[in-house]
Amino acid sequence: MTIRRLCLGTSTFAAGRQHPDKDSAPGIAAFADALRAGVRMVHSAPKYGTQPAARQAWEAAGCPTDVMHLIKVELAVDVSMAQTKTAISDVLESSARNLRADRLHALVVGVDLRRTADRARLVDYGALTAFYERCAETANACGLVDYTFGYAHSPGQLTAALATDAIAGAAAQYNSTEAWPAVFLDRIAASGRPFIAIAPLRRGRLVDHDATDAHSRLRALRWVLGHPAVTAAALTVSSRAHLAEALDAAQHPLTVQQVRDDLRYWLAAPVAHGNRPI
Ligand SMILES: NC(=O)c1ccc[n+]([C@@H]2O[C@H](COP(=O)([O-])OP(=O)(O)OC[C@H]3O[C@@H](n4cnc5c(N)ncnc54)[C@H](OP(=O)(O)O)[C@@H]3O)[C@@H](O)[C@H]2O)c1
Repeated sequence: MTIRRLCLGTSTFAAGRQHPDKDSAPGIAAFADALRAGVRMVHSAPKYGTQPAARQAWEAAGCPTDVMHLIKVELAVDVSMAQTKTAISDVLESSARNLRADRLHALVVGVDLRRTADRARLVDYGALTAFYERCAETANACGLVDYTFGYAHSPGQLTAALATDAIAGAAAQYNSTEAWPAVFLDRIAASGRPFIAIAPLRRGRLVDHDATDAHSRLRALRWVLGHPAVTAAALTVSSRAHLAEALDAAQHPLTVQQVRDDLRYWLAAPVAHGNRPI
């Protein structure tokens, strides 16, 4: 069922850190509708300030017990083991509390680019591998979460995350202008790991506002879901109208052939890929 391949992003669907004055009611209504329609994956973080709104939506939808919560945390590559433990348990404990969740599915750990003081470590494969290993072992040992996934900002980070056995899945921004994770997708699928495609519409920039029908308007989402190695696409919607279009688009992904043809074109492009959509 392709609706299960949608993951609800929570950064901006309701009032929170990014949009403190936003009217939360339409986003909460859309979130509850999504759960009623069968969406079962939610990506959130305490620092977005929207987990209480996500809980409100979950309660409005009748408290379904099988929601899989992915919890994001970003840490500097060079933080100590003690800081890693504290940061991970703080994020998981507050998420469980905010979401009223008995069980959290996965911690999605990524590198905090700004807070990594030793910049050389951001491109040091050994340091990155050790970082993912340390985070995964800490999270897996704390008993609050089932899995640890590695979030990657770059191919080097994804390579390091996948080299770590304790990392059970991968996540990265993946859309038709940030298509680099495609190079890894077959490998990720072959290793039996899930891949979460973050921001399939590139924060709304890939919505085709000139299109006259929803399938064309959200072609970018259909493109992301057209790749069989994409387990789920983490999308934000703040209204029932946007949700209805997303549910429809998710049930009509592009064909694998269309996606692979587009990717061949992307890989062969003679210029920097920049912001040019496929
Ligand atoms: N480093 C990380 O881990 C990281 C980075 C970025 C994002 N994320 C996660 O990924 C989630 C999704 O990312 P995102 O919000 O940046 O990008 P996105 O889901 O690709 O795009 C969201 C934007 O698309 C708009 N949209 C959705 N459906 C639409 C429709 N039918 N018509 C017109 N516009 C539509 C939304 O508008 P409305 O809100 O008005 O509906 C919103 O502005 C976030 O919530 C967050 O959980 C994680």
